Amino acid sequence: MTRKIIMAGNWKMYKTVDEATELVEQLKEALADVTGREILVCPPFTALSAVAQALEGSNIQLGAQNLYPAEEGAYTGEISPRMLVDAGCRYVILGHSERRQYFGEIDPFINHKLQVALAHGLRPILCVGETLEQRGEGRQKTVVSMQVYRGLQGIGAEAMKDVAIAYEPIWAIGTGQTATPGQANEMHWAIRNNVEGLFGSEVAQETSIMYGGSVKPDNVDELMAQPDVDGVLVGGASLSAESFLRIVKFQS
Ligand code: PGA
Repeated sequence: MTRKIIMAGNWKMYKTVDEATELVEQLKEALADVTGREILVCPPFTALSAVAQALEGSNIQLGAQNLYPAEEGAYTGEISPRMLVDAGCRYVILGHSERRQYFGEIDPFINHKLQVALAHGLRPILCVGETLEQRGEGRQKTVVSMQVYRGLQGIGAEAMKDVAIAYEPIWAIGTGQTATPGQANEMHWAIRNNVEGLFGSEVAQETSIMYGGSVKPDNVDELMAQPDVDGVLVGGASLSAESFLRIVKFQS
């Protein structure tokens, strides 16, 4: 089994260029010796180029938080995959629950973004997750599997080597309430089954499934100890070097 471990920071709408470069300067030195995991930061668009430059020669990768699925064109306010590649991005977060909730993004649009990202050599991180209400009704697996099926529609098995999935229960994002390691693993296992249904067991075993939602230095170790948790997508705790470093250097 060769699943990649991906430890990612999603900076959301935080950090000016100066703040962003200061943070990665701290991270890159402290993480220089860390191996066996992919380390990733996803700054806002305005800081991508500066962070790319600061990260040159380091073992930290760059990702974006979104893209618009067109090569170029009259799409005021949007950023194309070509621009992301040009800025030095290797990854892109797609379908984050905040995009779904505040910007009305729905599965077919997210699927289109995923296909376009892959066509440009970007590695998409497809975010899925249920609301508290859906969990309360016991529908979390149905909701998440629909997001997985629709999000990955039309993707070839071969392309899946570049796709990661992030399970982020909406009730755990920014709330300080984390899924228990057991709850996370149960959902990750279910997602892996969905991937197996679509692409077969070999692809399912090799797909990295990350957990996101109030990941902190004090819960990362037990989350990462779960057999189907292959990394984390960290919001709030990725904004300070001290906490993100501890998270990336999780102890298993
Ligand atoms: P959080 O955000 O770690 O602040 O809960 C996670 C995410 O939204 O990716």
